[in-house]
Amino acid sequence: MTGVSAGGPVTYSPYAYEIHEDPYPVYARLRSEAPVYRNDEFDFWALSRHQDVLAAFRNVDAFSNSHGVSLDPSAFGPDAHKVMSFLALDPPRHTRMRSLVGKGFTPSKVAQMEDRIREIAIEHLEPALEQGSFDFIADFAGKLPMDVISELVGVPPVDRAELRRMANLVVHREDGLFDVPQAGMDAALTLVGYYQGMVDDRRAAPRDDLTSALLKAEIDGDKLTDEEIVAFLFLMVVAGNETTTKLLGNA
Ligand code: HEM
Repeated sequence: MTGVSAGGPVTYSPYAYEIHEDPYPVYARLRSEAPVYRNDEFDFWALSRHQDVLAAFRNVDAFSNSHGVSLDPSAFGPDAHKVMSFLALDPPRHTRMRSLVGKGFTPSKVAQMEDRIREIAIEHLEPALEQGSFDFIADFAGKLPMDVISELVGVPPVDRAELRRMANLVVHREDGLFDVPQAGMDAALTLVGYYQGMVDDRRAAPRDDLTSALLKAEIDGDKLTDEEIVAFLFLMVVAGNETTTKLLGNA
């Protein structure tokens, strides 16, 4: 089954690279021809009309995030929150996590970083411009989001290129591959280990970064566990890197 079918009933698979290129014609057909779409091959249902999606987002009894937001068999299951944090939690656990993380990850915290974000952007743009011509994604848009996340959570500059490489391995999928490849699993484990090390360091010597703020966050004596902090730091890699890179790439 491919992701796009010119004639015949509409077909949709989030794995189909030809859909990634331009998903909107397929989304339009789903809304008009199959608003509750069934894919037996990958065993999922897809809602595509705004009012249906909004209602599903708000109906946590019928539509649970508890097994995560990925169809990859090795990423889907009751332990998904260990690497996907919020994205694999329903209220009230989701609300608790968001309230505690919201103590550290605030709009003002991000606003304070504006000058640093501009500096990091220039650090990547200047060497690229000196080349005369450059690959916008490889030399700039694919580096900036992950380095800004690293700046936010407190990763030292010397480690950022390697963390970027691993972050890309976690989300990279060869066409035709329908699960996390071994290289992605290995990179995920290495990232989790790295972030646990950072949490231990910040417990011993707090700094002005998000990791230290998450360790300090408290609501009525309730605090985040190391596992919850590490899972959130990992979520930032998955939620904040590829999404923004693709947005910059399409800009
Ligand atoms: C163009 C860029 C981005 C897009 C299109 C995007 C899109 C989304 C979407 C659709 C969700 C909801 C997922 C769900 O509940 O199933 C989400 C959640 C989330 N995103 Fe983003 N995102 C982007 C950038 C970022 C960045 C840069 C960060 C962090 C640095 C981030 C952090 C998060 C977090 C923490 C959540 C979970 C929120 C919650 O469950 O309460 N995202 N994002």
